[in-house]
Amino acid sequence: MSQEGEITYSEAIEKAKASIIRFPLSPIRGIPLMNYIAQNWDSIWAFRPDPSDLLIATYPKAGTTWTQEIVDLLLHNGDADVCRRAPTPVRSPFLEICSPPPIPSGLDLLRKMEPPRVIKTHLPFQLVPPGFWENKCKAIYVARNAKDNLVSYFYFDKMNQTQPEPGPWEGYIQKFMRGELSWGSWYDHVKDYWTEKEKHNILYLFYEDMKENPRREVERIMKYLDLTLSDDIIDRIVELTSFKSMKENPMANYSCVPRPVFDESISPFMRKGEVGDWTNHFTADQSKMFDEDYEKQMKGANIPFRTQL
Ligand code: A3P
Repeated sequence: MSQEGEITYSEAIEKAKASIIRFPLSPIRGIPLMNYIAQNWDSIWAFRPDPSDLLIATYPKAGTTWTQEIVDLLLHNGDADVCRRAPTPVRSPFLEICSPPPIPSGLDLLRKMEPPRVIKTHLPFQLVPPGFWENKCKAIYVARNAKDNLVSYFYFDKMNQTQPEPGPWEGYIQKFMRGELSWGSWYDHVKDYWTEKEKHNILYLFYEDMKENPRREVERIMKYLDLTLSDDIIDRIVELTSFKSMKENPMANYSCVPRPVFDESISPFMRKGEVGDWTNHFTADQSKMFDEDYEKQMKGANIPFRTQL
């Protein structure tokens, strides 16, 4: 999108602004997806990655952008200038995203890139194009505790004018618990990747671990990618991917998506970046009700989520 004569990603969004609506959801194999994605499902499912491509998979709002930035810096030896060559969704396309023209779809962007590519997805495991596993692509999954993930998604759905209206907080909790938000059930999402991680060599990370000790998690990703960087460069990557640095970085903070599509006057994309913000939103009764349901939905899963540090 930055080649001569082509419009930039932000310009494409500006041009498409009038056709942006809160797209209704349409199910694909029982998973609610934005109808634009559902309409293009066959070509998404048929996508054939290169074996060198890397997949970054998450439930929405689990720390995708953070991980994309860490990976891009690791792959470019911590070179901040190179990693400012384009905004996140252009450097690391969003596999299934489709929007009104002229906004390029994830597949449009991927077609113009040479492998190895870093590809983002929110698809639950069973909807990831099988070519990723057939070609033994590496994949990083990032999971975030349900309550903080829910709060983050609530604010995102308020500000992102392409997502269904979130409605009031109380009802939003119910929709999350029933798996009715875009990309479906958080519970199934985190459980299915957890179950599949050994079989497919998926690196399963936790947002809370990244907050607790970012250096340790950056090193974990580095090793998974078979890279060896110096201590100084690792330190620099940790600094460049702090919440503060990324919030100030126009190529990592989603300021590439202009108003009114992402309406940052409602809530910024880089909102708080904390563990435990849920305590500012759940009442004691809501927390109890949520926890009781959580026990049932996560029974036997044994995934070590932490809701506080
Ligand atoms: P909050 O809404 O809780 O602030 P995603 O990239 O998957 O959409 O996730 C967005 C969430 O990750 C937001 O959470 C955002 O602030 C947080 N985030 C983004 N970059 C971060 C960073 N460098 N450190 C911590 N949190 C970050």
